[in-house]
Amino acid sequence: MTASTYAPLPIDAPWVVLKFGGTSVATAERWRTILDLAAARRAEGARVVVVVSALAGVTDGLKALCTCASSEREATLAKLVERHRELMAQMQLADATEAERWLASLQALVLPLPSDEAAVHGQELRGGAPAPGGGSHTAWQSRGRGPSPPRYALGASPRLSRGERGYSWQAAVQAHGELLSSSLGAVFLAANGLPAHWLDAREALLAREVPFLNERARALSAQVQADPDPAFADALAARGEVFITQGFIARDGDGHTVLLGRGGSDTSAAYFGALLHASRVEIWTDVAGMFSADPRQVPGARLLQRLDYDEAQEIATTGAKVLHARCISPCRRARVPLLIKDTRHPDFEGTLIGPLPPEVAPSVKAISSRRGITLVSMETSGMWQQVGFLADVFAAFKLHGLSVDLIGSAETNVTVSLDPTENLLDSDVIAALAADLAKVCRVKVIAPCAAVTLVGRGMRSMLHRLSGVLAEFGRERVHLISQSSNNLNLTFVVDEGMLDGLLPRLHELLIRAGALRTDDTALFGPTWQMLYGGGMAPLAAPWWRGERERLLELSTAQAVPHAASGHLPPQAGEGTAGTPRYVYHLPTVRERARALRALRSIDRVYYAVKANAHPAILRAIAQEGIGFECASPGELDVVDALAESSASPRLFTPNFAPRDDYAQAVERGVALTLDSLFPLQHWPRLFAGREIMLRVDLGRGLGHHDKVRTGGTASKFGLPLAQLGEFLDLAREHDARIVGLHAHLGSGILDVSHWSTVCGQLASLAERVGSVRCLNLGGGLGVPSHPGEADLDLAALDAALAEVKLAYPQYELWLEPGRWLVADAGVLLARVTQTKRKGSLNYLGCDAGMHVLIRPALYDAWHDIVNLSRLDEPASMLYQVVGPICESGDVLGADRRLPESAEGDVLLIAQAGAYGESMSSHYNLRPLAEAAVIE
Ligand code: LLP
Repeated sequence: MTASTYAPLPIDAPWVVLKFGGTSVATAERWRTILDLAAARRAEGARVVVVVSALAGVTDGLKALCTCASSEREATLAKLVERHRELMAQMQLADATEAERWLASLQALVLPLPSDEAAVHGQELRGGAPAPGGGSHTAWQSRGRGPSPPRYALGASPRLSRGERGYSWQAAVQAHGELLSSSLGAVFLAANGLPAHWLDAREALLAREVPFLNERARALSAQVQADPDPAFADALAARGEVFITQGFIARDGDGHTVLLGRGGSDTSAAYFGALLHASRVEIWTDVAGMFSADPRQVPGARLLQRLDYDEAQEIATTGAKVLHARCISPCRRARVPLLIKDTRHPDFEGTLIGPLPPEVAPSVKAISSRRGITLVSMETSGMWQQVGFLADVFAAFKLHGLSVDLIGSAETNVTVSLDPTENLLDSDVIAALAADLAKVCRVKVIAPCAAVTLVGRGMRSMLHRLSGVLAEFGRERVHLISQSSNNLNLTFVVDEGMLDGLLPRLHELLIRAGALRTDDTALFGPTWQMLYGGGMAPLAAPWWRGERERLLELSTAQAVPHAASGHLPPQAGEGTAGTPRYVYHLPTVRERARALRALRSIDRVYYAVKANAHPAILRAIAQEGIGFECASPGELDVVDALAESSASPRLFTPNFAPRDDYAQAVERGVALTLDSLFPLQHWPRLFAGREIMLRVDLGRGLGHHDKVRTGGTASKFGLPLAQLGEFLDLAREHDARIVGLHAHLGSGILDVSHWSTVCGQLASLAERVGSVRCLNLGGGLGVPSHPGEADLDLAALDAALAEVKLAYPQYELWLEPGRWLVADAGVLLARVTQTKRKGSLNYLGCDAGMHVLIRPALYDAWHDIVNLSRLDEPASMLYQVVGPICESGDVLGADRRLPESAEGDVLLIAQAGAYGESMSSHYNLRPLAEAAVIE
């Protein structure tokens, strides 16, 4: 169907503005996409304005034309002409008259041959050619600079002055990129059944007088005041239904062509959207939208599906390239939604920028970085208090047309940052500025710097979650920290060289700290990797989704007495309500065990019993040929009680344990690990003639939370390396033989390189000890807990370890993971008790509290929570999910999006198989949770 077959639109039909960038207009195939999209909007009943950029690379070519030596001008021009003619041929344009005219006018502007002078001097660029839209040429161009030129001038043709090849001439030259692409497009659309009127954007967009802009900025980086203007909309509607126009260009009050600066085409689309009060402005580009970080640096960055104007503005201002910051405010003022979409993947959701629903939790939305920042530090002694000092300082910035971004001040110093995207920065401008400033203060220019910014609504209420981020910055020199007064951003200015690798680390830290709320799937979409990373499969659906009915039954079933399953200690809850109840899925445990056993570089795997000592889990693990790592005689007892584990190897790894624990282990013949001098110094007879292992402290800790990092002086674990010599002497003296070295740096580590690094370090220490046979690399294997976090890459882990093993083939490698084997295998079922509204918060109470699952309270750990009774209902509420314990910290999940829930509903708390039941208590004298097993 073509537009000509559509019934005419009513006069009040909504407007939609579609904008296409340079790559989207560079091939005939891409023009077909434009045709399809514009025709689809028209078919939906909208009037359409298509705004286009110049063909990719053409604006740069035109800039080069402005600056290159006159001897090179002809060749540069020829390339540009060729480029457009090639595309015309590709597009099979029947009528290239208009485009050829623009090529001719470009030539006349840059290569003024004697015969062209008259046309150029006449300041009528097209030498009297009729405007494609028809109409008079003279409506406003004869006016001089008046106080208020008409807002728009439909039908008029603007002047492109050559003058003495100043900024205005540059603007006129560069405007040709868009004039050309839109002319090609108009012919192409019409030839393919969508008659589109060519509209000269300069007829509609009038630059406003901004008093502090210098001449250069006025010509090359102009701004337009665009508010909804029904008269303009009506006048355009009277002309037609579908238009194609140029991005990037406008006219000034004298009728000269001006440019809108970088990203100007987006801005043009926004101006048109605002003027027409469009129902939507769609920016079609080569990515799906804005992401939580630059995906080139952070492949795990998430698509931001909904943003409010302020957040989007902040993200665009602070580094995201997908949308130019200037284009948001016209839309915000006119309340026009902006949608970013990927031209090649129209099925991807995109980013919708508009007013956000009120019930949204504060969250960091994005982390961005800007390079090329220049800091200007101004030092004064005593002048700071002087009236007018700041005015003098800032007058210098104004004089040089520089807009200041961040400001930090002290008694004798004021430091400001200059952003290259807001300023036409070059070394001449900076030198001139510094010279002027030097008249009133001492100036230091620090460059190149980078600004790293966290963006999100309610930044101040998230500070407590940012400790990890601050610690990361703490390692390097930070020049300036600035918190925006609109509570939307927190910026750190650092040396540019520090940026490498920083963003991925910060992104990860923010997710882990619950500051970047990627669990809110209404706002955070898929990762860039999932969308573009070569089809990386999204995380598999968890097992419990397929076991809903069974789980709902279990939530009401009579308790299975622990005694029947042989669970020790026998502390069955008296509650028979069925909740709170842990449920363990043994197939998941077995699958995990097999995956670890399949690692070729690992000789032995021990399961850290502390993660979950449920007998059914221990049995399944023993059956898979995995040994046990125990931290107490109680854990040894549980393992000993199982027939299946009789042949399983055991380790005993106590820490600050009483003498008797060591004596017991020795008696039981369990491999024993010491981690200090004390046992050898004070109880040497226990170890005489025996084999022991030694746990060392490698001086650093890692893991999902400070409380689970087990390295460095601040941690109580391991023998400091400085005492190794003494330990070896004692061992020799008391005839204890060190057969293994051990290091466990922490829990919840997702960086695969960790274990191979530890392995290399232990291996070189082992050389020094001499008698070592095995290296125990500890546990700590993390599971991704936040949606979108990548799984630990076991194959990569194996490969990295295999490499170390090549260098040290004499050592066996051991691992002793807990969490990785069982975390995903367990869920906690809880029943909703009550709900309460308090201020703006909705509390959802349930019968599982911190006594049953302490991880959220202790580590701010994040567990997915769903309402199992209402799994298919829309998650319309934002809840604080809390338990029945008398502590304010009894919160299982803050700001969780769930369906509206009622008393009796069953909640499922996911990933509760590790350190859930095993850390539970009778606090408040509440019973322990029951546990059930799915075989
Ligand atoms: N080996 C030793 C010596 C350990 O201390 C631990 C855990 C492990 C192995 C097993 O680590 P895994 O693979 O599970 O990360 N309650 C905290 C975790 C504490 C881990 C204590 N030690 C949590 O819920 O995150």
